[in-house]
Amino acid sequence: MSTHIEAKKGDIAETVLLPGDPMRAKWIAETFFENPKQYNDVRGMYGYTGTYKGKRVSVQGTGMGIPSCLIYCHELINDYGVKNLIRVGSAGSYQKDIQLRDIVLAMSASSNSGINNSRFINADYAPTANFELFIKACDYAKAHHIPIKAGNILSSDEFYQDDFDEYKKWAEFGVLCVEMETAGLYTIAAKHNVSALSILTISDSLVTNEHTSADERESTFSTMIEIALGTLDY
Ligand code: ADE
Repeated sequence: MSTHIEAKKGDIAETVLLPGDPMRAKWIAETFFENPKQYNDVRGMYGYTGTYKGKRVSVQGTGMGIPSCLIYCHELINDYGVKNLIRVGSAGSYQKDIQLRDIVLAMSASSNSGINNSRFINADYAPTANFELFIKACDYAKAHHIPIKAGNILSSDEFYQDDFDEYKKWAEFGVLCVEMETAGLYTIAAKHNVSALSILTISDSLVTNEHTSADERESTFSTMIEIALGTLDY
């Protein structure tokens, strides 16, 4: 058992899907896994292990924001030997050609978080997706005719901004969308020499002020999970 996960050594697979919402973790396990077994409910942050097309895989809720995500990633990597961390989350679009329900692969993650500022004082670190996982996700999507977009995203420490137009500063530099975890995930994965990728579904747009409904979020979420699990086969 680690500080926030009550699993025994060996209970967690080498590849773990990481939704922010623990109820999504439960839904993913019950919808996509064969023989899912719950290994964690500490703080209600559910974790499950099962198989997908015969291959062992886990799913672990991370909570929202870089600090919470880093707690789970740290313990998964250091206490349970996890090698592949695949975030599956939602994001808000910063571009008019990134629309609701689009799927975005985060090649890199800019951030307004302090984690890397305090680590690399007066210098910038560029948190980047693992190339092999990224290519596997692209190959799977292409083979299954699933349209994807890919590029730089923003991991923000704040969901609600003081200035609504602040997003334009990032949009002008080509940032595709905003979420709250990936820069932390890519940094900790690099530090421990393991692989990470964020696959995101656009749930809202700062450009048009549109939002998807809960039902839509569920069905579009399925395609993203399919891509994440598809990387196991490639
Ligand atoms: N996740 C989904 N939509 C978001 C937004 N607008 N800001 C931050 N994280 C998000």
